[in-house]
Amino acid sequence: MKKLFLETLGCAMNVRDSEHLIAQLNQKEPYELTTSLEEADLIMINTCSVREKPVSKLFSEIGVFNKRKKEGAKIGVCGCTASHLGDEIIRKAPSVDFVLGARNVSKINEVVDKKHAVEIDTGHDESHFDFGEYRSNPFSAMVNISIGCDKQCSFCIVPVTRGEEISIPSDIIIKEVQRAVDKGAKEVMLLGQNVNNYGRRFSGNEAKMDFTALLQEVSQIEGLRRIRFTSPHPLHMDNAFLEEFASNPKICKQIHIPLQSGSTTLLKAMKRGYTKEWFLDRCAKIRELLPDAAISTDIIVGFPGESEADFADTMEVLEAVRFDKLFSFKYSPRPHTEAAAYANPVDDATASQRLSLLQARHTQILDEIMEAQIGKVESLYFDELQKNNRIAGRTDGGRSVLVEGSEELLGEFREVKITQAFRTQLIGELVSKS
Ligand code: 5AD
Ligand code: SF4
Repeated sequence: MKKLFLETLGCAMNVRDSEHLIAQLNQKEPYELTTSLEEADLIMINTCSVREKPVSKLFSEIGVFNKRKKEGAKIGVCGCTASHLGDEIIRKAPSVDFVLGARNVSKINEVVDKKHAVEIDTGHDESHFDFGEYRSNPFSAMVNISIGCDKQCSFCIVPVTRGEEISIPSDIIIKEVQRAVDKGAKEVMLLGQNVNNYGRRFSGNEAKMDFTALLQEVSQIEGLRRIRFTSPHPLHMDNAFLEEFASNPKICKQIHIPLQSGSTTLLKAMKRGYTKEWFLDRCAKIRELLPDAAISTDIIVGFPGESEADFADTMEVLEAVRFDKLFSFKYSPRPHTEAAAYANPVDDATASQRLSLLQARHTQILDEIMEAQIGKVESLYFDELQKNNRIAGRTDGGRSVLVEGSEELLGEFREVKITQAFRTQLIGELVSKS
């Protein structure tokens, strides 16, 4: 059997794209996954271009692949960087055999045997494409509900790499979730760049349907116990959606709401479409309905023009919401984005200092949140075996808990008492058998 080395960078969407790549390849010819570059017949890197650093690392990585690969092995560059650099990748690195954009996953079998093939059309419509089956974690299934992104955030390259937003028809989504459930998944993660913008545009004549209605439909599926989704956009968080989130027992009480900045002035420059007050109001509404909901976020510091007062606004939101998880980044200018031409860049030292301050305060808050979990009894869904007779599961709020136990707990729910807390990991013990 041929061997595939596949490196996946970036977001959950890319992780799912990698599963689709494997599934599609396997329909033509079976591949076995390998972690050894030297053994691989096909080496692929599924790239991310949201920040500059991974993009600049790509070419040195291709050099390493080319040196270590066995005779005749192929190298493919897929994903977001493939989309926006296209044939420039082959011009700079002729050892690359093919380039496949983030919107063109379904074309993998068309490029895999074609020397220097480049497929990066972001107008390509994959919203009706029923991909083959491959899941790296069969217990918790990722399912796309839309492709692309219609927002024009001034810092973000994603609309350029993934194209226009198109919702996937709900019957395809339901069929896919049902298939995953039939194969043992009790949890599903619905994926999209802006999940709560679902239904704004289909490519065919599908009946109108919004994200709240989709959640209601998905939750009808028998055997499915938990629904997660990522990421919703703060702008589209209407009350109907938040009430469904709070009241539907299958929807996990964990929500990722990308803030980006706490300053209304900067949010305007970022073209985010909401204010600091709106963001705080939505978080307050969630906490009013669900005091224990886990809220996570993304924050960018050092966006052009960010003043001390703007940064203080971000710190204020951090203080008010007390995020469960924080993904924080220094602003990185990206090609094809409006902000790349903005005046008043923030110098790197200031941006680094702000990032440290933000992360340090978040860490203190997180330690308090984790400490407060000790003694709680949570329903855990076990989905990952670990070393030393331990098994990992997630609480409804998405926190990872390690418990002593073995294989027979995989894919099962158990009540667990939290006994110890570390910054990103809880430890617990089983309290019941059902
Ligand atoms: N610079 C830094 N961070 C960025 N992100 C997106 N674009 C940029 C950029 N140009 C961050 C945002 C987004 C997350 C996936 O990456 O916070 O939510
Ligand atoms: Fe995901 Fe955005 Fe990175 Fe593309 S650029 S892989 S959409 S995070």
